Formats: sequence, C-alpha cells, structure tokens
Amino acid sequence: MEPVEASKLAAIGAFYEEAPSLFPGIRTEIGITDNTDGKHAPKGFFGVRAPYYLTIYSEKKDRFMMNAGCIMEQLSLYMLTLGLGSCFLGSVSYRQKRDDLEPVIIMAFGKSAGALTRRATEAKRIPMHELCIFKEEPRHWTQDVMEAARLAPSAMNSQPWRFVIMKSRIHFFSKKRDIDRFGKWDEFSFGCLFAHVLVTAEEQWLDVDLIRLENISQKNFRSSQYVLSALIKAE
Ligand SMILES: Cc1cc2nc3c(=O)[nH]c(=O)nc-3n(C[C@H](O)[C@H](O)[C@H](O)COP(=O)(O)O)c2cc1C
Repeated sequence: MEPVEASKLAAIGAFYEEAPSLFPGIRTEIGITDNTDGKHAPKGFFGVRAPYYLTIYSEKKDRFMMNAGCIMEQLSLYMLTLGLGSCFLGSVSYRQKRDDLEPVIIMAFGKSAGALTRRATEAKRIPMHELCIFKEEPRHWTQDVMEAARLAPSAMNSQPWRFVIMKSRIHFFSKKRDIDRFGKWDEFSFGCLFAHVLVTAEEQWLDVDLIRLENISQKNFRSSQYVLSALIKAE
C-alpha cells in the first residue's frame, strides 16, 4: 500500500499516450484512482488490495475489447520496468462512465510485496505442442513470438487461443466454447496476447503486421474461429 512516486505515475500516463494500439480509430482514455488511504478500492468478488487502480475507458466500437487488452497489457509490462506489479480485475464493478466512453477493465497496481518476476517455466500455461498446429518449420524469430504469445495472461487463465504455425507467420484462432461462461473476456485476452507479439517484435527488431487475412476469414472451422495473423519479417 506504499505510495508510488508522482514521476512514475506521470510516466505511466506518458507511456499510454505513446503506446501503439491495434485499432487507432477507437478512442480510449485511462484514469488512475489513488487508494493509498485504503478507502477508494473498487467493489468486487475477486478484488485485489492495492494502492492504485488504473481504469481504461473506450468507445464501444467493433473489437474495442481487443484494443483495450492490447493497450492494458503494454501498460502492465511497462509498469514492470518501473518496479511495479499489476493485476487485472475482470470481476470488479465500476460505476463511472466518462462522457461517451465505457469503462472496460480495472487493473490494480503498486509496489509488490514479493518478487516482481518469475521464470517463464513457473507460469501455468498450455505447452507449446498442445497449442500449435505446425504447417511449416518456424524460423527462430517466429518461435520467439510464439513463446511470448503463449505466456500472455487471460481471464481465469483460460488461454482461449490456438496457433497455426508457418515459417514466418502465425495464424491465431479462438477456441469455440460450449458454455460461454468466461467468453466475455476472450477478446480482451487476445488483446493481451497481441501486446506480447508487438513487444517481442520490437525487442527483436522484427517487423510484424497483425492483419486479418481474407482467405482464412472466409473459411468455417468446426472448433475454432479465426482471429488475426502475425506476419513477421526480420530486418
Ligand atoms: C481479462 C482478465 C481478467 C482478469 N480478472 C482477474 C480478477 O478478477 N482477479 C484476479 O485475481 N486475476 C484476474 N486476472 C488475472 C488472471 O487470472 C491471470 O492472468 C491468469 O490466471 C494467469 O496467471 P498469471 O498472470 O499469474 O500467470 C484477469 C486476467 C485477465 C486477462
């Protein structure tokens, strides 16, 4: 519950202004609630006690949840570089609207009591061979992007994605669900995954295009739905 330096809070705002979004035509805003006095926590079932809560608001346009997920996960990764831990709160309720913008999700953040990072192997994730269908042998840069995508967070850790792997392309599919219980957050979780794709590409000096390929989107699949493809080029 320790206060965070004002310069760090300002840096989060500045980072948000510059962060690439998946769909720049969708207007968003963020707001930070100071809860260092413990009296301003949002209400909710799986709430997390934290000194600050960041809310993202968005216009309700097609794929706005995915767009918001991509921005918020980049913010979460950026906070890590400032020494701050964070946790999405999909189940807390919010009351305020901002003009014509809807609140999408709240993320708790602050200095973490324990270690800020862990080894990738300690994250509970579906192993790569169960997630992917390999159509071609992936290049090593494609493998880096696949691994970062695999580690993305998702609501209830549902990992609703499957990957079809080519040499320098990854086609991302969403698993169709029998019961749509947690499906509400799937699109947001995909946004988190695409944030990992963008950050990895930048870190490795790769050029990546995230696009919807017409020839795939027109096909019907029995147990999955096509989302987007990452086309990766090394510089
Ligand atoms: C859209 C979304 C909503 C989430 N909601 C909650 C939540 O309400 N409470 C919580 O403790 N964690 C929440 N999480 C965190 C996930 O449970 C967590 O990322 C996932 O279980 C993987 O765990 P890890 O990130 O620690 O590896 C949420 C994550 C996402 C992407």
